[in-house]
Amino acid sequence: MKVILGADHAGLELKEHLVAHLTALGHEVTDLHDEALEVDYPDMAAALCSRITDGSHPLGILVCGTGVGISIAANKIPGIRAACISDVYSARMCRSHNDANVLCLGGRTLGPEKAYELAELFLSEPFAGERHARRVEKIARLERRD
Ligand code: RB5
Repeated sequence: MKVILGADHAGLELKEHLVAHLTALGHEVTDLHDEALEVDYPDMAAALCSRITDGSHPLGILVCGTGVGISIAANKIPGIRAACISDVYSARMCRSHNDANVLCLGGRTLGPEKAYELAELFLSEPFAGERHARRVEKIARLERRD
């Protein structure tokens, strides 16, 4: 699976673990690395999400301290459905039911092993479509204010 990863300073260490792990599993990983000592999470959310909405990457993973701030920022961008996730059931359901295209994780709340499990589920679970497609389309309508 092609996936792009990015983090603010609080998510950097976990993001590096995830890049190494997902690459070793054979995923086609783009690492949106920022050399700055301090990266504001809305800036990283904007940079990564532009690579989703331009069609170059189907899925992305963002990491900040909690996953919360970066998911709030990502969800401001039309076409982005970001899910802040810390449990395995929701990691599957956000793909299956919500067609989430960005997974947001907490670098200060999750250890690497849990993050690997959540990321692998997110990358492997397909969108179920059917009645869920109708609901996701209604999200898009909210975005367009139809
Ligand atoms: C940065 O200190 C921290 O506020 C940020 O990573 C994130 O947790 C915000 O939600």
